[in-house]
Amino acid sequence: MKIDNAKIIDLPKVLDDRGNLSFFQSMDHVPFEMKRVYWIYDVPGGEKRGGHAFKEQHEFIIALSGSFDVVLFDGTDEKTFSLNRSYYGVYVPNGLWRHIQNFSTNSLALIVSDMAYSADDYIRDFDEFKKFKHG
Ligand code: TYD
Repeated sequence: MKIDNAKIIDLPKVLDDRGNLSFFQSMDHVPFEMKRVYWIYDVPGGEKRGGHAFKEQHEFIIALSGSFDVVLFDGTDEKTFSLNRSYYGVYVPNGLWRHIQNFSTNSLALIVSDMAYSADDYIRDFDEFKKFKHG
């Protein structure tokens, strides 16, 4: 996939004096059937997560709390999505190198995926990623 296929997705916001509510559903706000949810938390200052690509897996990433940057690279172009509100997220299609950085204190990254966990779906070597993209 190219970097242009990654995009911010705005989620519904139900505003209420008692507090706000947002949500997302498969094939509606998120363009895939969700299979797995994981979250990243207690990230020490200055740490980076990721540094890999997925061959098939699609993801949707939200900053449920705090802020961080999702950096994507398609083999040619790079783009950074800064997330800092819980009512939008970034859709990350397969085939993009990604890492997440600049985590604020107590930030919470929620990630939903269209696949069960599969170590075989990861490309963790950057040279292998370049070969995967450019042959
Ligand atoms: P990884 O995806 O490399 O984390 P990040 O991209 O945030 O740096 O996963 C870290 C470890 O956790 C790795 O050993 C695989 C394991 N893991 C699972 O067992 N199940 C999962 O759903 C995920 C996302 C990771």
